[in-house]
Amino acid sequence: MTEATTRTAPALTIHAAAPEGGSQWWREAVIYQVYPRSFADSDGDGMGDLAGITARLDHLAALGVDALWLSPFYRSPQADGGYDVADYRAVDPRFGTLGDADALLARARELGLRVIVDLVPNHTSDQHAWFAAALAAGTGSAERSRYIFREGRGAGGEEPPNNWESVFGGPAWTRVRDRADAPGSAWADDGQWYLHLFDSTQPDLDWDNPEVRAEFEDVLRFWLDRGVDGFRVDVAHGLVKAPGLPDWSGHVSMVEGVEDPTSGGPGAPPRPAAEPVRAPMFDQDGVHEIYRSWHRVLAEYPGDRVLVAEAWVEPVERLARYVRPDEMHQAFNFPFLVSQWRAPDLRAVIASSYRANDLVGAPTTWVLSNHDVVRHASRLGLARTGKGPNGIGAADPQPDAALGLRRARAASLLMLGLPGSAYVYQGEELGLPEHTTLPDDARQDPTFFRTHGAEKGRDGCRVPLPWEAAAPAFGFSPTGASWLPQPAEWAQLAVDRQAGRAGSTLELYRTALRLRRELGLGTGSVAWLPGFEDSATVLALAVGAGGPGDVLVLTNLGAAEVALPQGWRVVLASGAVRVANDGGVLVPGDTTVWATR
Ligand code: GLC
Repeated sequence: MTEATTRTAPALTIHAAAPEGGSQWWREAVIYQVYPRSFADSDGDGMGDLAGITARLDHLAALGVDALWLSPFYRSPQADGGYDVADYRAVDPRFGTLGDADALLARARELGLRVIVDLVPNHTSDQHAWFAAALAAGTGSAERSRYIFREGRGAGGEEPPNNWESVFGGPAWTRVRDRADAPGSAWADDGQWYLHLFDSTQPDLDWDNPEVRAEFEDVLRFWLDRGVDGFRVDVAHGLVKAPGLPDWSGHVSMVEGVEDPTSGGPGAPPRPAAEPVRAPMFDQDGVHEIYRSWHRVLAEYPGDRVLVAEAWVEPVERLARYVRPDEMHQAFNFPFLVSQWRAPDLRAVIASSYRANDLVGAPTTWVLSNHDVVRHASRLGLARTGKGPNGIGAADPQPDAALGLRRARAASLLMLGLPGSAYVYQGEELGLPEHTTLPDDARQDPTFFRTHGAEKGRDGCRVPLPWEAAAPAFGFSPTGASWLPQPAEWAQLAVDRQAGRAGSTLELYRTALRLRRELGLGTGSVAWLPGFEDSATVLALAVGAGGPGDVLVLTNLGAAEVALPQGWRVVLASGAVRVANDGGVLVPGDTTVWATR
């Protein structure tokens, strides 16, 4: 290819750098997700804690990320790994104290790292004081009106109020009378039902109640006053339900959000025509007013504080409504995470993501792994890529580990080369695979129990991190205790084995993050490189700070080697490239390179 044909034609531009550039830190930030249970344990009880995180923050500074997002560490019975909050203003004793949270924030600030915390507004724990009061106060009380209590259907109210399913499996309603703690308890056994889109220990709040709205604005202020830089908002699309809670027999999967038009999957009867097409429990227009009010709360505080939506909403144009200028600042890009490992699929997701976000002036985000999905180093090694199953067990088809890691490194380098903001899940910088052979008796995810084991659940991506190959629990805890067992092979993947080792996944991430910053990729413009814009196997993006074209990000998803266009020099590669006889560079399959001229 000649120099002239490599020049970018404007028609191929898919994203133009914003004129304000990088003045708002979050527009180009790389944000690292810490799952506190599994990051680092300082006291040896086998459960990670805040002091453990603080002691290991140097790792994040050396990695070169801009911020960390902490999954919940609030007081919680841990029925759903802390996404069941009993007190939004307290640290769970398993994780430490409010003083430990302050110390973490202070150390992060010293290291130049921003901190985002998790906010869980759709539901509380059933151990929250409000829910205890609701049970005690009985039908029609002000206490019950903070939640969604309803009478059952049928003569004796023995049928749930509607047919909604829990995202975790089973019905989305539990009858007060059926609760195991009912007999002899202090609360009213009046046979009402309460809604829980997730586990029965996670009752949904009623966001029509002004008291609920006031409470959460106060919780925001509590953490903003302590100095957090923002909030990741859990199930942001779920707070408002359609009036009347109409029947809807579709099924919503975690992260993917696909609304199965049949109840219960293949072979089940089609959804009745009388039911609404769109899920009445998700993405209702009323949620946006809530985020506008939160935006105003954040704006009262100095500095750039952010709201990040976890919303399984399709199509991407509807997701972009959450990040309009007066609402949230970012939304996770789950279509990118669940994309098949195929060039046309990824190309379509990348283009539509920029298109939708650019229309509302929000940065596009990128994410490949989190605490709810099979880690991408394993997901991409399955026969069928895409979202993958909800967990993998020993009896399930096992991923091809080598293929998965190779593709994961390529996918990560693609992600980190794309302008916008990227999310890195703890351990992906080590190339950690999913734990795919966890014994069932070690499992803790409620999805495993609510589906009677049909879904293995999310424990396999939540296994505590390996820090030191030769230490107990690979350095996760001083005693060797670990709330989930770590695979023996993880010794090879420990941070101390990879640090300073050329070609290790850790060094790949460190170099990528340094170059991303130096080359200004996060705020750059993007265009498809001419000649590859329709390729079935190669994604080639011209990215640049001053305009597209400074850096070539090329991912070969095919089987055959691809020649790097002439004039480009590789600066980073996710796998070994080959120099051909004519001096050209050949990029093998499942490999991403970054090149400059
Ligand atoms: C979000 C969290 C997930 C949790 C669910 C219910 O999807 O990421 O871990 O189980 O909300 O709170």
